[in-house]
Amino acid sequence: MPEVGCPYCSKKTDDICGSVCGGASKAALSMSRLRCALRGFDLKALLLLFVGVPILLFIIYVHGQKITYFLRPLWEAPPKPFKMIPHYHHENASMESLCKLHGWGVREMPRRVFDAVLFSNELDILEIRWNELSPYVSEFILLESNSTFTGLRKPLVFAKNRRRFKFAESRLTYGTVGGRFVKGENPFVEESYQRVALDQLIGIAGISDDDLLIMSDVDEIPSGHTINLLRWCNEIPEKLHLQLRNYLYSFEFHLDDDSWRASIHRYKSGKTRYAHFRQSDDLLADSGWHCSFCFRHISEFTFKMKAYSHVDRIRFAYYLNPARIQDVICHGADLFDMLPEEYTFQKMIAKLGPIPSSYSAIDLPGYLIRNAEKFSFLLPGNCKRQQRG
Ligand SMILES: *[C@@H]1O[C@H](CO)[C@@H](O)[C@H](O)[C@H]1NC(C)=O
Ligand SMILES: *[C@@H]1O[C@H](CO)[C@@H](O)[C@H](O)[C@H]1NC(C)=O
Repeated sequence: MPEVGCPYCSKKTDDICGSVCGGASKAALSMSRLRCALRGFDLKALLLLFVGVPILLFIIYVHGQKITYFLRPLWEAPPKPFKMIPHYHHENASMESLCKLHGWGVREMPRRVFDAVLFSNELDILEIRWNELSPYVSEFILLESNSTFTGLRKPLVFAKNRRRFKFAESRLTYGTVGGRFVKGENPFVEESYQRVALDQLIGIAGISDDDLLIMSDVDEIPSGHTINLLRWCNEIPEKLHLQLRNYLYSFEFHLDDDSWRASIHRYKSGKTRYAHFRQSDDLLADSGWHCSFCFRHISEFTFKMKAYSHVDRIRFAYYLNPARIQDVICHGADLFDMLPEEYTFQKMIAKLGPIPSSYSAIDLPGYLIRNAEKFSFLLPGNCKRQQRG
């Protein structure tokens, strides 16, 4: 029997392996190779193969996203760090001394401030935002569409509730844009289409050079004193990102302080474009709040989960089950059962599991505290939500 060049056989060859190496028809050959390979495995090993492997595949199917996220530090390098600008504030400090602390001079007159948002359905957060910014904003700009980013039809929620925002009416530039309703398209395409429309609306609102323009989602709320500082000081960066505290569901669940997407711009006609990505390296510390999924009604959670650009995260229909959502909110767990989005294992492991409750309601938006009863669902210890809006 030829032993040489038989890769599947040990020295202690037997009949099966012998015939493999001895040659046969191709199909028979591969069958016997399998048998050869299995030779020596006992029943337990076979069970493991036919029961264990499917179970493993099922686990990978259910948690596949988790596994890839967990390995993220391996496949994605962290972005270039920001240049942090220390941020000073005291209600009794003069504007001149505050500007000076930041290395800036004070102006004779404050700049005009334009606050522009793409609106979906977040009425409560909008009310808190506009009241926080109201003393410092010259013009509120709001655009809404009858399509979500994911191409679902949506009512014009702001238009229906416009009476609720009477305090802003005299300073409001409101616009609507028709959805394109393209089936199966990446949601980020509709999102950028709406941002382009928002650029036009900002022009209509009468912005001019060196006015300040706030670019942020509705739920990214700069603190009023931050905007006041930036409108009064000279020499602030032309494009400045704002570091916000990240909260989830309410101000009870303080996730981290890593929100940076909100930015403020000294407007330059023909140059400034509304964007929600990184546009500069400067980040002003502790400049407000980002409250994600901070909704009053469970129905708003399910709407937002289906409407926003990360809709692919709904991998199983039961994620939308109201009882499950309520449970997730009260535990500070993740709506999409995902791992923390981090670039280092150290940070990811530190954030595994639900967000611990915070009992601090210090330094929150003033309008929220003045109307604590109306907005109790945003305050510590009030995780129970109403079903419908
Ligand atoms: C605030 O400033 C005024 C005058 O500048 C001073 O008299 C007062 O004591 C200060 N109050 C606090 C709480 O620091
Ligand atoms: C969306 O709005 C546009 C423009 O107002 C309109 O032409 C279109 O019919 C609307 N589509 C739906 C599905 O409501």
